[in-house]
Amino acid sequence: MTSRLSESAFLKAARGERPDHTPVWFMRQAGRSLPEYLKVREGVAMLDSCLDADLVTEITLQPVRRYGVDAAIFFSDIVLPLKAVGVDLDIKPGVGPVVARPVRSLADVAAIPDLTPDAIPMITRGVRQIVAELDSTPLIGFAGAPFTVASYLVEGGPSKDYAQTKALMYGAPDVWHALLTKIAGISATFLQVQVEAGASAVQLFDSWAGAVDPADYERFVLPYSRSVLDRVAGVPKIHFGVNSAMLLPLMASAGADVVGIDWRTPLDYGIDAVGPAVAVQGNLDPALVFAPTEVMLERAGRIIETGRRARGHIFNLGHGVIPSTDPDQLKRLTEFVQSYPLA
Ligand code: CP3
Repeated sequence: MTSRLSESAFLKAARGERPDHTPVWFMRQAGRSLPEYLKVREGVAMLDSCLDADLVTEITLQPVRRYGVDAAIFFSDIVLPLKAVGVDLDIKPGVGPVVARPVRSLADVAAIPDLTPDAIPMITRGVRQIVAELDSTPLIGFAGAPFTVASYLVEGGPSKDYAQTKALMYGAPDVWHALLTKIAGISATFLQVQVEAGASAVQLFDSWAGAVDPADYERFVLPYSRSVLDRVAGVPKIHFGVNSAMLLPLMASAGADVVGIDWRTPLDYGIDAVGPAVAVQGNLDPALVFAPTEVMLERAGRIIETGRRARGHIFNLGHGVIPSTDPDQLKRLTEFVQSYPLA
């Protein structure tokens, strides 16, 4: 790693050191809010685009070129590794991941192969190409956390109440354990491959972990997320969930250096909840980008001020960019955060 990369504002904040400005990137910064994304995706299905290293490289770099954000995030999806091992699934536009045969039994779990690096050569190639182009801008690799990935496998698609997922968790703990152990191995390998190819940080997305209470999180979710994070070494790790206020102290114990705070949780509350040993990331409401610019920037300023109290603070939205977002607003937001005086 070059010293300019290692001394970048993003990696400094992630390590709990003091950067010269608050680093900023946006979850789902690459995607439908960008006209250049819609153009290169024309006629290409989501999963096919994730399997094409050249397209992945172009899409990953688009928001870096347009916004000058402090980090890129690898363009892929949390279900891509399942696709790579042969699970019959698709990503339906406007819906999300849809699984042909939901997983409900030990036999269903056993039928899912483990992920080996040779099954995802396009990921290695894509990461290498991106890192070469990015030069001193860090690339964040990512994977889905076992609970969130399991929810798609068990429900067969997106869910509001996670009824089938919880039925399995409470009613068939042996199947649950086998399934989450399997996914933890797949997610760990997916992260290791990205780090090996040059990603300089990783984020574990447990977007739907907020569906369970702290006691169930500790027993049925945390051990598997911890096992993924434990198997990734040498780079800063970010751990993120939505509706996670009650889970933050437990999430902070899973082994990541940074915990992502969703926008419903006041940032000062989040900083206290994760404790002094970890940095935070977040947490502007993605809908505030639709407010008048001065209102958006005023809220962003408050988040930066609050973030000073944390071990480290990486500015982000409190969840992904909304597809109808005006890119010019994100450009103004990026410039505002990067030029905000920290001294
Ligand atoms: O953040 C980034 O810029 C990197 C790319 C990225 C995507 N998905 C691209 C994508 C990342 C990090 C993800 C992770 C992901 N995928 C999560 C965790 C993060 C989160 O948002 O909470 C989840 C839950 C998924 C599952 C998934 N995939 C959903 C819910 C959807 C949206 C469905 C829809 O159409 O509204 C997808 C598809 C998807 N993944 C798109 C993108 C850009 C949209 C599909 C398209 O552009 O055609």
